Amino acid sequence: MSMKLPFFKSKQPEQNDLELINVPNHVAIIMDGNGRWAKKRGLPRIAGHKEGMSVVRKITRVASNLNIKILTLYAFSTENWKRPKSEVDFLMKLPIDFLDIYLPEMIENNVRIETIGDFDTLPKSTKEAIQHAKDRTKDNDGLLLNFALNYGSRTEILRAIKHIVSDVSEKDLPVDELDEQFFAKYLYTEGLCDPDLLIRTSGEQRLSNFLLWQLAYTEFWFTDVYWPEFTEGIFKEALLDYQNRKRRYGGI
Ligand code: FPP
Repeated sequence: MSMKLPFFKSKQPEQNDLELINVPNHVAIIMDGNGRWAKKRGLPRIAGHKEGMSVVRKITRVASNLNIKILTLYAFSTENWKRPKSEVDFLMKLPIDFLDIYLPEMIENNVRIETIGDFDTLPKSTKEAIQHAKDRTKDNDGLLLNFALNYGSRTEILRAIKHIVSDVSEKDLPVDELDEQFFAKYLYTEGLCDPDLLIRTSGEQRLSNFLLWQLAYTEFWFTDVYWPEFTEGIFKEALLDYQNRKRRYGGI
């Protein structure tokens, strides 16, 4: 029997209750709209990012309580370096602040912290704080909180190709063995299942160079709400919508 979490009052309870046994394994989120949220309030853009950080904590807690296995959050793209230096500096400091405040809570809740993206070229202090969090949480087997940081999907795919070419020439890797599963091992997401659900906030409906390979069969869900206004209720609305979808993977 499935456990049901009452969510909406409705005439069709079976379609409007979140089924706790059928939550997606992997949810990916493009947390967009921090800047516009701040602008709407006459605040500097960084105020939106700061508020966005506390929403990360809130949604991590919900995901963990719902037994979602992986939460991948797009925190900084390879294209975000084009922003003004002051904003980039702030965004690079956010993971440090986040971990300063919330790492104990993450450890207590059995959350494992990881990143995807070009880790080596991050500022030293950002790398150190994150590496510390990775080391402290590496044995946790609850939610995997996976930050896409300095991440770009096209770069990821090119990087994979370069490694494969090098393995073909240096390790005699047989080209015939190169199939989808094999290729996926060369991506940052090696070993992770593909996202089941992608959420993007703020009304934009594009991928912005996020997980282009991994999202091939992912269900997409969009909301006009800016990330700093994203709530547990809206998150559960997305999960409920996901549960009512029929995934066919190209079949019938
Ligand atoms: C996009 O909004 C958001 C980002 C580029 C940064 C996302 C970062 C956070 C939500 C905080 C992350 C927290 C941790 C712990 C790393 P935008 O600035 O592009 O918004 P806009 O489209 O309204 O300008």
